[in-house]
Amino acid sequence: MYAHKTSMAFHHNSPPLMIITQVFSISFLLLIHSLLPALALVASSNNGPSSLVRSVCEETSQCSYKDCVAALALDPKALSTTNVRLLAKIALNLAISNSTNSLKYIDAMAKKEKSSPRLKSALEFCISQYQYTVNSFKSALSDLDVDPMTANYDAKVASDGAYYCADKLKSEGFQSKDVDSVRARNNHVLIYSDIGYTVTNKMR
Ligand SMILES: *[C@@H]1O[C@H](CO)[C@@H](O)[C@H](O)[C@H]1NC(C)=O
Repeated sequence: MYAHKTSMAFHHNSPPLMIITQVFSISFLLLIHSLLPALALVASSNNGPSSLVRSVCEETSQCSYKDCVAALALDPKALSTTNVRLLAKIALNLAISNSTNSLKYIDAMAKKEKSSPRLKSALEFCISQYQYTVNSFKSALSDLDVDPMTANYDAKVASDGAYYCADKLKSEGFQSKDVDSVRARNNHVLIYSDIGYTVTNKMR
């Protein structure tokens, strides 16, 4: 009798079922809430770089993963591409348009240069180097389907133009602000050459 009473009292003081249910649903909401960022991450990775792009950008030897992805992202189709030949085409087309734009930029800069004949002549040297770079990227693109090994080689040597241009500016002592913009463009050539080489390496 006594024992029965105690147990009755215990039941009476225990939290009503409603409170227990509420505690459970609140912790369930908290759990869902804490999972949301993870769920969002899973969803957004569908829009991130394809496994092919990730693997190419992890393999580039001169440029960082970040620079590689950013350079490819200039073509909206690039990051989702899963076909290696298509990615090579996209990368080399970007390389051609980017270095052609730089060639025109340096050409305009050389034409405008009136105060320093030495700078003008260094820039003219860079123009001839950029012609080599642009032509190498173009050869790489046209060799892609017939001769991936030559395309691979062409993509690699395309960077020589930017190297020689950078070298000339340095050896002539132009390291100040007046050639910063050219140096930035030399770096873009190196990025696209690195990407072009890495992606065509996967076709050989
Ligand atoms: C050239 O490529 C670089 C690196 O991707 C980019 O930052 C720059 O905006 C590009 N320039 C042009 C004109 O496309």
